[in-house]
Amino acid sequence: MAIVAALSSAVSKPPSEIVPNAINQKVAPVIRLEEISKVYDTGGGISVHALREISLDFRAGESVALMGSSGSGKSTLMNLLGCLDRPSSGKFWLDAIEVDKLSRDQRADLRNARIGFIFQNFNLLSRTSALENVEMPMLYHRASISAGAMRKRALEALDRVGLADRASHHPNALSGGQQQRVAIARALVNQPRILLADEPTGNLDSRTSLDVLALFQELINDGLTVILVTHEPELCPFLQRTLILKDGRILRDSRRDKVGSAAEARAALGEDV
Ligand SMILES: Nc1ncnc2c1ncn2[C@@H]1O[C@H](COP(=O)(O)OP(=O)(O)OP(=O)(O)O)[C@@H](O)[C@H]1O
Ligand SMILES: [Mg+2]
Repeated sequence: MAIVAALSSAVSKPPSEIVPNAINQKVAPVIRLEEISKVYDTGGGISVHALREISLDFRAGESVALMGSSGSGKSTLMNLLGCLDRPSSGKFWLDAIEVDKLSRDQRADLRNARIGFIFQNFNLLSRTSALENVEMPMLYHRASISAGAMRKRALEALDRVGLADRASHHPNALSGGQQQRVAIARALVNQPRILLADEPTGNLDSRTSLDVLALFQELINDGLTVILVTHEPELCPFLQRTLILKDGRILRDSRRDKVGSAAEARAALGEDV
């Protein structure tokens, strides 16, 4: 067994179907996980197995609801997918690139270029305008972007989420839904392939949640892969796939044929009175 394990870990080429050419790119997974485990060492000889041998593929334009009770491993999985943390064992490819083979800086570049993050509490910088918040990820780009080009791209991203007229507002002068839309614009400004959203609607009312989902559905139609952590089962009909984690394992992985339109559901609710 040890020899088999040693041999397989020495083979670093990606699975055969992942060929980085323009034709296969359409069908190859954007993300592939093979037997990914994550063990946290909490000190004193106590370790927590947050993920246990997870194997999964995600395809371009796929929308996924990631569910499971508190502590089941959802955020741990999102942190690994977002290259913010590394697995304890297993293999992980992002766009046919084996992430664990990369240096820390290369991982940061990959993350910055291909992944957008959205969090439950928006994580906006309170002392800067909506526009400056959206410009932020471009500051970390290795290839320098001129101030004018950054501004233009940030304004385009704000326009995309319907907030061009709020560009100069600080977050505390925006509603919760508007703050989340600024966070979405910030996540989109580097034109990522994958959007990772950890409970993005957790702090929003149902109308605003549907507005956010409708926006996600537009992006998914354009080929973005969206993985969304939620505790709200009523959001699942608007996403193609539901993954349920339990104790760090996949309990269920199901796909639906027909996905509901969040824009229509939102329109049916009418305006708040
Ligand atoms: N940095 C850490 N150090 C030690 N243990 C951790 C760490 N982060 C998470 N854990 C543990 O790993 C397990 C999975 O945690 P995780 O945050 O992924 O759960 P979750 O599904 O996102 O839960 P929630 O719905 O409450 O956000 C939990 O038992 C948690 O206590
Ligand atoms: Mg979590």
